[in-house]
Amino acid sequence: MNTYINAQIRALLEETDMIAALANVSACINENYDRLNWAGFYLVRSNELVLGPFQGKTACTHIPFDKGVCGACYSSASVQRIDDVLAFPGHIACDSASRSELCVPIIVNGIVTGEIDLDSPEKERFTQDEEDEMVQAAADIAEAWLKHAWPMPQ
Ligand code: SME
Repeated sequence: MNTYINAQIRALLEETDMIAALANVSACINENYDRLNWAGFYLVRSNELVLGPFQGKTACTHIPFDKGVCGACYSSASVQRIDDVLAFPGHIACDSASRSELCVPIIVNGIVTGEIDLDSPEKERFTQDEEDEMVQAAADIAEAWLKHAWPMPQ
């Protein structure tokens, strides 16, 4: 996958400050994908996930590694594309309007450092093409992580 959104994201990742870069990447995803009610990042801290830059309503600030879609993404280090979050055991409803979710791990040198998390009020909102785009975006973010020497989880 090497689409227009991926090219835009790669340009935004020239920014060296992690918060500034990820804030713009979350805005870029939100602008390119319609029917989202949340687009942003959770970042890995010592023993939990912590809210990062995002677009959307206020959200859960701390998520345990073993809770929710984001916890499953962290623990399995794999993409979680959930067509119906109401059927996902332990789903954390930051916004009760959410119906489907796409969560993609950012893996730097084999370590999960964060996640891209997208929510939609529509069931089965996310396509395989979008999953592929976000997997590419996560790979580009991982490359930027090393290039800009962003902090690894402690
Ligand atoms: N729904 C997520 C929590 C984060 S919010 O969607 C922004 C989960 O179940 O982990």
